[in-house]
Amino acid sequence: MTDVIRVDPARPDSDGIARAAACLRRGGLVAFPTETVYGLGVHALDRQAVLRLFEAKGRPANDPLIVHVSTLAEVAPLVIERPPHVALLAARFWPGPLTLILRRASAVPSEVSAGLDTLAVRVPAHPVARALLQAAAIPVAAPSANLFSRPSPTRAEHVLDDLNGRIDMLVDGGPTDVGVESTVLDLTVEPPLVLRPGAISVEALRTVVPSIATLGARIGAEGSAPMASPGLLSKHYAPRAPVTIYRGDATRVRDELRRAAWNAIAAGKRVGVLATGEDAVSLRDVPVVLADLGFEGNDEAIAARLYAALRELERARVDIILAHDIMREDGLWRAIGDRLRRAAASVIVVADR
Ligand code: TXA
Ligand code: MG
Repeated sequence: MTDVIRVDPARPDSDGIARAAACLRRGGLVAFPTETVYGLGVHALDRQAVLRLFEAKGRPANDPLIVHVSTLAEVAPLVIERPPHVALLAARFWPGPLTLILRRASAVPSEVSAGLDTLAVRVPAHPVARALLQAAAIPVAAPSANLFSRPSPTRAEHVLDDLNGRIDMLVDGGPTDVGVESTVLDLTVEPPLVLRPGAISVEALRTVVPSIATLGARIGAEGSAPMASPGLLSKHYAPRAPVTIYRGDATRVRDELRRAAWNAIAAGKRVGVLATGEDAVSLRDVPVVLADLGFEGNDEAIAARLYAALRELERARVDIILAHDIMREDGLWRAIGDRLRRAAASVIVVADR
């Protein structure tokens, strides 16, 4: 059984935090909230504990972990050089949802980085994560606290759904704030490269380091005719029901969502739709299970709801999930679109007529 400790997210009580910290120091697996998603923490310098963490998540050994520390100073012993951008970026974005890739020092077991000579580090901002890291006084490797390839957990119950009985402790600090993971920025290359869009926008990063580059390539199909491309997407963050996303002109996409929903219903399927308020209105008379993401203009609200909405649809036992692709690049939209496309089994490009 997993021991669940409830704490006040703003002022976590020190007894609960001390127990969780002691568990981490002993090599235990402890899930805790960060400002982005729940992490599953383990002593980053304890190789056996790190191996147990991969096992508990069912995570392949070639997927590297992020090491969480409570201050920039604690990064120094974990890495072998600190490029000049680190101090500037840390001063502006830490504590916060920015992960930096640096060169790994040999003190950190290579399993943490899946054998790479680099290391991902971040200083999280959530008061519970901060209190836990301070009390534990060790670097904590923490991937998202979900089973491999499942949506990241934004609530304590999501962690239990995936990992109850597989981990030692869960510190329940309520829902997380941001809802999508940290931005991963590689500082071992020049210009620095965003490997994973996330909670901190590329524009915000460029106010500090203007040369930052992105992996421009989009995941998924491009084309003009309606076209499905199963298997093309790197599968990740996926709920159990297959997700199909529709891309193109908003009005046409809504028509297509209605048509696809009616077809699936006629075939006896239970249909879930991941919908913005605007999509939901157009599906009013269609008997689908709606997971409302909120209004189209509000990226923060949509990011905070996205993973919970996918899990809600799953719990409603839908057979398929339909969604409207989000192609904006500013603010949190880049991260939202990235996660939506990674959750998808196929992309349908709705043709302009
Ligand atoms: O917001 C977050 O980052 C959350 C919370 C818990 O901090 N953590 C998280 O961890 O999302 P995880 O393991 O689910 O994702 C880690 C990402 C992966 O995309 C991984 O490939 C990348 O970071 N990563 C880790 N180490 C890396 C390295 N040395 N080089 C390149 N990418 C790395
Ligand atoms: Mg993850």
